[in-house]
Amino acid sequence: MSKILIKRARVIDPSQGLDSIKDILIEKGRIKDIGEYLFELEAQIIQANGLIACPSFVDIHVHLRDPGQDYKEDLESGMKSAVAGGFTTLVCMPNTNPSIDSPEVAQYIVRKAEDIGLCKVLPAGALTKGRKGKELVDFYALKKAGCVAFTDDGSPLMGSNLMEKALRLTAQLGSLVMNHCEDDRIAYGHINDGYVSSLLGLASRPASAEDILVARDCVLAYHTGGHIHIQHVSSSLSLDLIRFFKDKGTKVSCEVNPYHLLFNELELLTSYAKAKVNPPLRGENQRKALLEALKDGTIDCIATDHAPHASWEKGSLERAMPGMIGLQTALPMMLQLVREGYISLSKMVELMSCNPAKILGLEGCGSIKVGARANLVLFDPEKEWVLGEETSFSKSRNTPLWNKPLKGKVIYTIFEGRVVYQDV
Ligand code: DOR
Repeated sequence: MSKILIKRARVIDPSQGLDSIKDILIEKGRIKDIGEYLFELEAQIIQANGLIACPSFVDIHVHLRDPGQDYKEDLESGMKSAVAGGFTTLVCMPNTNPSIDSPEVAQYIVRKAEDIGLCKVLPAGALTKGRKGKELVDFYALKKAGCVAFTDDGSPLMGSNLMEKALRLTAQLGSLVMNHCEDDRIAYGHINDGYVSSLLGLASRPASAEDILVARDCVLAYHTGGHIHIQHVSSSLSLDLIRFFKDKGTKVSCEVNPYHLLFNELELLTSYAKAKVNPPLRGENQRKALLEALKDGTIDCIATDHAPHASWEKGSLERAMPGMIGLQTALPMMLQLVREGYISLSKMVELMSCNPAKILGLEGCGSIKVGARANLVLFDPEKEWVLGEETSFSKSRNTPLWNKPLKGKVIYTIFEGRVVYQDV
């Protein structure tokens, strides 16, 4: 396998407290050396002056729509978008067709992703058969087939008895449950319960729907010793609940999406259905509470919730499917928060790489220590670009940021010692 020598990058790796200009030598798929001035005659040289090198990103919440909905995305287009966004590990959600509720479907994903070979794709198994919320899956068989977590993503598990059992069983396997917390008996509408829903007269999805399930799941994790991971937190009371249970030593972790950090519900007035997501974009006070929680460490990681949909599925606000694509926009969005002073670059790398790897106990990512697998990204924090027809790798275009100027671009992504994406 070829050698790569990265020269004069600003290397940021919170896992070893590193932030300085260094050379990095990669050999046989691993980090061979990190030093001041390294030489290697046979290596491909990457001149990285002005670039930041860090562990490549880990996204624990993506929808790749494969099998079953490849008009929106498939493993190959999703993986190409991922590496163009600096991600080399993805956890893909089970709301596929068929859903990931059997070892056969999990193995189909693992094998197809290995054949494509651009990055690692780890399936999240469904919690219940067909994601119908009635009967738990065989956690052991799915874990053996490669599933790293369990969730009925998009369809919150309402049965508390089933959630209690799922937390107990997954804890025995050293695995975890991820839940989309929105009680669908309260959250039956289309957008946040607030100014915009009143203005447009639309049925809504109040934050209380989220808070109720976050509270229930934390209580169950507290009593069972299971690990609950709360997906895409968007409400300030949910954050308070998570803080409370973390203080009690409960195994609770949570993610936030870049779009909940950067947009509020007013975005709907200009981007319409492109800004429709579940849970919905909320009011400015809720967004500010998310930013506070990012700073104080309540939020463990960033996840994109990359959710591709075809243009014809994004019509009126009432009818549109919820979701935004996000793999290629996550870095520029997070860099905006760095520029605005909410987080440091090092904290951003923790949130996008080290911490999501830790939550799932994933090896081979989240660090670029000598000897580790060479999974890293080189990005230019100042480069301006536009996500559009020429630059996007997704099959879908559903983001308010389509054709808008962005700042901060991935220049190289390296997966297991191979350059899998290069900005041309
Ligand atoms: O906005 C969303 N889109 N939220 C979800 O929970 C599901 C996702 C999707 O699959 O499109």
